[in-house]
Amino acid sequence: MTRIAYVDGRFVRLHEPAVAAEDRGFQFGDGVYEMVKVVDGIPRDLDRHLARLARSLAELGMTMPTSPAVLRAVAREVIRRNPLARATLYLQITRGTAPRAHPFPAGVRPTLVVAVRRALFPAAGERARGVAVALAPDLRWQRRDIKSTNLLPNLLARQRAVERGFREAWFVESDGTVTEATAANVFLVDGTGRLVTHPADRRILGGITRAVVLELARAAGIPVEERPFRVEELATAREAFLTGTTSLVLPVVRVEDRTVGDGRPGPVTRLLGRLYAEHSGLADLAGDYAQG
Ligand SMILES: Cc1ncc(COP(=O)(O)O)c(C=O)c1O
Repeated sequence: MTRIAYVDGRFVRLHEPAVAAEDRGFQFGDGVYEMVKVVDGIPRDLDRHLARLARSLAELGMTMPTSPAVLRAVAREVIRRNPLARATLYLQITRGTAPRAHPFPAGVRPTLVVAVRRALFPAAGERARGVAVALAPDLRWQRRDIKSTNLLPNLLARQRAVERGFREAWFVESDGTVTEATAANVFLVDGTGRLVTHPADRRILGGITRAVVLELARAAGIPVEERPFRVEELATAREAFLTGTTSLVLPVVRVEDRTVGDGRPGPVTRLLGRLYAEHSGLADLAGDYAQG
C-alpha cells in the first residue's frame, strides 16, 4: 500500500521529498506535534489532542496553520487514504520555512504535516507479564509540558536503555524524582494502595493517556494522588506502569535490578489496562491484562 501524507498543502507519497531544506522544524526542531490513536478509522480522544496541540503552539508563539475544522478534515482524509484497522495519526506543525536565523521570521506560514502509520502497540506478552525499565538522568529543558519535536534527550536515553536490554527508561531528576519515561508517563501504586503519578506541571508532558487513566481510576474508586515520587519509593511500591498513546497501559515489573512488588503486573495495573483498552475501542486487547 502506498502511504499518503499531507505536507504543506498537498497530498504526497510519504517517502516523496516534500519539506524544504530551510524548514525551521528540520533545522532547529522549531515545531510541535501530536500522536493520536486511530481505531477502525476513528481518531481517539481527538479533542484532547487538538487542545494540547493548540496549547503547545501558543506557548511557542506559533500559529495554527488552518482552522480546527480544516485540520480535522485533513486528518480524516489522510486516515481515509491509508486504511488501517489500528493506526497512529501524526500531526506536526513547524514555524515554517525561512532563511536560517534564530529570531522568528516575520510573516512566515507554518508547515503542516499529517501522516498515518500502522500502530505498534506493546506485544500481548509485554502487556500480560510487564516490562523492565532503566533509569536515566533527566537532561531535558524546563518546559517539558510543550510537545515539541526536540526529542534528543529522549532519543539518547531510550537508545541507551535499549542497548542495555530495557524496554524504556524513566527520567530521574538530580534529587531522585522520577518525572516520566522517554515517551510515556509513569505511575506507581504506593505502599498504601494509592495510585501516584507526577503532577502535570512543566516538568512532564501532560499525557492524554495519563489524563484518561486518572479519570478511569477515580471513576473506579481507586484513590489517586498526583505528587512527585522518588526512586527510593520503589522499595515499598506495589505496582508500576507506563501510559501513552501507543504504550497503552504497560505494566513495569522491574526497574534496573529492582523488582516492583511481586514481579508481576498487579491488580490496579491490570484493571486500568482493561478499562483503558475498552475506552480506546481495543476491547480485544483487554483480555491480555487479565492473565497476570
Ligand atoms: C515524554 C512523553 N511523556 C508522555 C507521553 C504520553 O503522552 P500521551 O499519553 O499523550 O501519548 C509521551 C508521548 O509521546 C511523551 O513523549
